Amino acid sequence: MNVSYVKRYELSNIADMWFKSFKYNFYSIIGKNLVLEYLKIAFEANKKYFFKITYNNKIRGFIVYGNDFIINQKLFKIFFLSIIGAIIKNIFFLKFFRVIYIFQILFYLQNKNNFKHISKNSLELITICVDKKRGLGTTLLRYSIQQVLKNPSVNKIYVKTAYPSKKTYRFYKKNGFKFYKITFNSKWQILSFIK
Ligand SMILES: CC(C)(COP(=O)(O)OP(=O)(O)OC[C@H]1O[C@@H](n2cnc3c(N)ncnc32)[C@H](O)[C@@H]1OP(=O)(O)O)[C@@H](O)C(=O)NCCC(=O)NCCS
Repeated sequence: MNVSYVKRYELSNIADMWFKSFKYNFYSIIGKNLVLEYLKIAFEANKKYFFKITYNNKIRGFIVYGNDFIINQKLFKIFFLSIIGAIIKNIFFLKFFRVIYIFQILFYLQNKNNFKHISKNSLELITICVDKKRGLGTTLLRYSIQQVLKNPSVNKIYVKTAYPSKKTYRFYKKNGFKFYKITFNSKWQILSFIK
């Protein structure tokens, strides 16, 4: 297995992986195109924060770091109408819980107070996703953390993950992350990794 930087042409493949792994993720609910655009914005912001893991010459996983708040600000401006369209579609199909969820996420991601802990010296691990049961996640996480922390101005990494979620918590904990706080109506927790 090999970890390396993602190339622009691989973003579509990575969007597919994201879409399949996180079916009930906010971006996946709006549509695969939103996932791809999110990845493009993150990629343009800093290509050196975007890694893939390959195995038998196939991409088996990816990890992306960045500033979730800034990426979402850009994304929501461009995709405002698509988001409204997705809300209307879900109302039409009587998926009211989804509509509530979309609004909750929109308010959360637009509120700067929810990102107060992110400073000039910290970075968010936005998403990691791998083919499971091969230990790829740990390899990808450890290698990429080493790389992003080579930047002397970065000394902390935060990650938002579901709460409670024993499996993901265990994954991050064994890789050096510690609990930071509960957020998003106690549905998410933020963990931190300190250099
Ligand atoms: C969270 C996630 C990235 C973790 O990656 P992972 O590859 O499953 O995690 P690990 O690298 O710790 O490996 C898991 C298990 O694989 C097995 N494993 C490890 N190395 C192995 C190897 N070389 N060969 C075979 N199996 C191996 C081990 O049983 C290990 O469990 P352990 O912790 O008890 O040792 C992955 O489950 C995933 O993509 N989940 C879906 C997306 C997601 O939820 N992302 C997090 C959002 S914040």
